Amino acid sequence: MGGIQSGQVDTVMREDRVFAPPAEFAAQARIGSLAAYEKLWNEAAADTEAFWGKLAQELHWFRPFSKVLDWQEPFAHWFVGGQTNVSYNCLDVHLGTPRQNKAAILWEGEPGDTRTLTYLQLHREVCKFANVLKHLGVAAGDVVSIYLPMTPELAIAMLACARIGAVHSVIFGGFSSTAIAERNNDAGAKVVITADGGWRRGAQLPLKANVDEALEKSPTVKHCIVLRRLNNAVHMHEGRDHWWHEMMDGASADCPATPLDSEHPLYILYTSGSTGKPKGIKHTTAGYNLYVKKTMEWVFDLRDEDVYWCTADCGWVTGHSYVVYGPLSCGATVLMYEGAPNWPDEGRFWEIIEKYRATIFYTAPTAIRAFIKWGDKWVDKYDLSSLRLLGTVGEGINPEAWMWYHRKIGRERCPIVDTWWQTETGGIMMSPLPGAIPTKPGSCTRPMPGILPAIVTDSGQPVPDGQGGMLVMTKPWPGMLRGIWGDDDRYRQQYWSKVPHHYLAGDNARRDADGYYWIMGRIDDVINVAGHRLSTIEVESALVSHPDVAEAAAIGRPDDLKGQAVAVFVTLKSGVPNEELKRELKAHVRKEIGALAVPDDVRFTKALPKTRSGKIMRRLLRDIASGKHQIGDTTTLEDFSVLASLQKDEE
Ligand code: WTA
Repeated sequence: MGGIQSGQVDTVMREDRVFAPPAEFAAQARIGSLAAYEKLWNEAAADTEAFWGKLAQELHWFRPFSKVLDWQEPFAHWFVGGQTNVSYNCLDVHLGTPRQNKAAILWEGEPGDTRTLTYLQLHREVCKFANVLKHLGVAAGDVVSIYLPMTPELAIAMLACARIGAVHSVIFGGFSSTAIAERNNDAGAKVVITADGGWRRGAQLPLKANVDEALEKSPTVKHCIVLRRLNNAVHMHEGRDHWWHEMMDGASADCPATPLDSEHPLYILYTSGSTGKPKGIKHTTAGYNLYVKKTMEWVFDLRDEDVYWCTADCGWVTGHSYVVYGPLSCGATVLMYEGAPNWPDEGRFWEIIEKYRATIFYTAPTAIRAFIKWGDKWVDKYDLSSLRLLGTVGEGINPEAWMWYHRKIGRERCPIVDTWWQTETGGIMMSPLPGAIPTKPGSCTRPMPGILPAIVTDSGQPVPDGQGGMLVMTKPWPGMLRGIWGDDDRYRQQYWSKVPHHYLAGDNARRDADGYYWIMGRIDDVINVAGHRLSTIEVESALVSHPDVAEAAAIGRPDDLKGQAVAVFVTLKSGVPNEELKRELKAHVRKEIGALAVPDDVRFTKALPKTRSGKIMRRLLRDIASGKHQIGDTTTLEDFSVLASLQKDEE
């Protein structure tokens, strides 16, 4: 049985297409050649602290730092002794410059209402709201939960907290009252900010009602601020609940940013652990701010004329780092959209790109696979010629989906940045730099300057290039999480114990001969067939390259003979879900990657179970495929009807 060491993963993927950065793009880019990237990366690697210390001069400092890094593994203190403020770096630095009257936020609500906020206007709103928070007794270090739809007020609330040193905890609008209460209690939140509702696919989300229920079980919360979005009747609890607009009416627009220690906590963001209690990932001030600003510049090669659209909700880390803090630190014009991509029809995103002449579009593979399934006719109706750069985040992108994105949306002109990172990493860790690094479909290519990844076995031994293993980081970086809120043991346990002295990302990956990284899926999702450890994404990508397949999820189910057998769940964009197609898909996998990975079971389904941020929940599929009646934790599941129909098919 395969003589590989524990922690290694076999690769069966063959992908050799390479796309050089378009010459016109490279000519104008900040980092415009592979040589320039490598020079920068090498310089950074030679002395990471000197590298970050020099870049940190780009932030505004109320008081300079005296030391770049104090590393008490696994606890990092970056820019020791310095004082800065993230809200200042996002707003005040642009005042009195030509950006003052530039649009900071171009917003479109789902029903089609629109708003524009310039940097000056956004600054004013943030100052006023910061005074509202102060008026309610919020002080530096207090935790504020934010449960709002994707409106400008969501960004305003985050920036207002940052301005006075309150720690925000944004809770995605799709979460239930139980999830809100759990987060309020874990963080000891003092205030909750919500709305009378929000729009999603034409329906009204009962945000305030959810909060009311949550507050019955959230003893630390003293005040609730309610934004009027839908204008519908909501219950207002006397003494506890306050209307946003009434509080803002009398608030002063004078609120200087509080000088905060470099390591002052900026936010907590809960991510679902694979089991049990959600983890409050903690990010702090200066290092995070620097990291999102620099990666924004490197990866998106942002320029002042750009209309930049990241489709993520601020309930996720992508919304924190690349809707709010990264782009605003760079003085970008950020496009923000409240609602669903298929409302009122499947052309909505393309309509928005045409209308605002968006130049950069950053979205998730799950969305791209949905666009492919919905059909090209929606894309063809709109003029997408304003786009110059495309990005993806959240999951691996299957090479065929990448090719569709490249041809259909990018018209073969736009580089694609496949960005690998995590809530824990704060910002993008590996990605092509669009003017410098040739892209390969399915690879997040190379690490950012200052980032030193490695691929290792269970015992921390490096694996040879071409072989899969566990992805780790060998050096701390400024954007890294500073811990799990209130749980240092869990932090140590989860990220710093399996492989000594390295940050364990929890993903498998391999590096090819060109030094390119290929993410192979979560460590826990590896499929072990007759001693061969297969990566989920490779089997899935082979299936997605079949013309009838829209999406696929591969998992291992117990098998007496082989240890595990490969089971795949497939959604179709065309074709008939019958035995013949099953045989054809098996033959297709055999042709693409070989007999080893041929699925034993192929199951057609209308949809796959996903998390609310669009990741396939392979764990639930494992439970179903192995015939378990007790399905594990489903709190993060996006659509329960999917699970119900999968279970029904089972019987
Ligand atoms: C996965 C999202 C492959 C990965 C920013 C990671 C990816 C987890 C990619 C973090 C990518 C994210 N290619 N896999 N480009 N981006 N992932 O915390 O498994 O929501 O560990 O952060 O998503 O998800 P999170």
